[in-house]
Amino acid sequence: MIRLSVMGSLAQLPPGLHHVAIIMDGNGRWAQQKGLPRLAGHKQGAQSVREVVRTARKLGLSALTLYAFSEQNWERPLEEVQGLMQLLFDYVVEEREEILQNGIRLKAIGNISRLPEFVLRPLLKLEQDSAHNDNMTLSLALSYGGQESLAQGMRRLAEEVSEGSLSVEDIDEATFSARLPTAGLPKVDLLIRTSGELRTSNFLPWETTGARFYVTPLLWPDFGKDALLAALAAYAEETEVRGP
Ligand code: FPP
Repeated sequence: MIRLSVMGSLAQLPPGLHHVAIIMDGNGRWAQQKGLPRLAGHKQGAQSVREVVRTARKLGLSALTLYAFSEQNWERPLEEVQGLMQLLFDYVVEEREEILQNGIRLKAIGNISRLPEFVLRPLLKLEQDSAHNDNMTLSLALSYGGQESLAQGMRRLAEEVSEGSLSVEDIDEATFSARLPTAGLPKVDLLIRTSGELRTSNFLPWETTGARFYVTPLLWPDFGKDALLAALAAYAEETEVRGP
């Protein structure tokens, strides 16, 4: 039986596990439970991001995709949106060297043209500078909506057909996947959601087809290395019992 130690040194990744995607939920509740402003929850959530990325990289995961900001999140109060943008900026600037030194490729997926210039500039620069890295792809879903990304992929196919560079007969799962922002990444094997809700919230609807779903009651700011290892251990047990 494959088991991952949650206490000692990092064990091996479960076989067949290449891509983990996470819906990071519960920052607001974490703050509320402590009588703190919501932004304190997001700030602590950014620390969880750092720990989870580091752990995933050490384990040798190929791809990690984090739902950092949905299209719907723009509707939150201005102060909260501005605070989240500042945390994103801080993350990209402060983690830049570590990301590059560890051979991580950073990708932003979503409608990123909506991001403010002060975030977009260092984000695109890091995306460009890390493009050749191949140890792990870290995708940050920003201003992301799953249905929106599918519609955009369909639009691309339609444009290519109308231009004559693609024929309708050549459209299949692979040609469509190649027009999504996640093109080139392995399919998602494990989708993790924190804070207990059993919803997929418009996150990677195409890419998670067939993924295992792991939901933990932990709020995102409390999710770290041990929680990730517990999720991977559950995945390993499940695939051993039911097959990949
Ligand atoms: C959900 O919590 C989380 C978010 C909307 C944003 C996630 C952002 C971070 C983890 C911090 C910054 C990100 C990076 C990549 C540095 P919620 O506010 O919906 O929580 P609630 O449901 O308890 O209110």
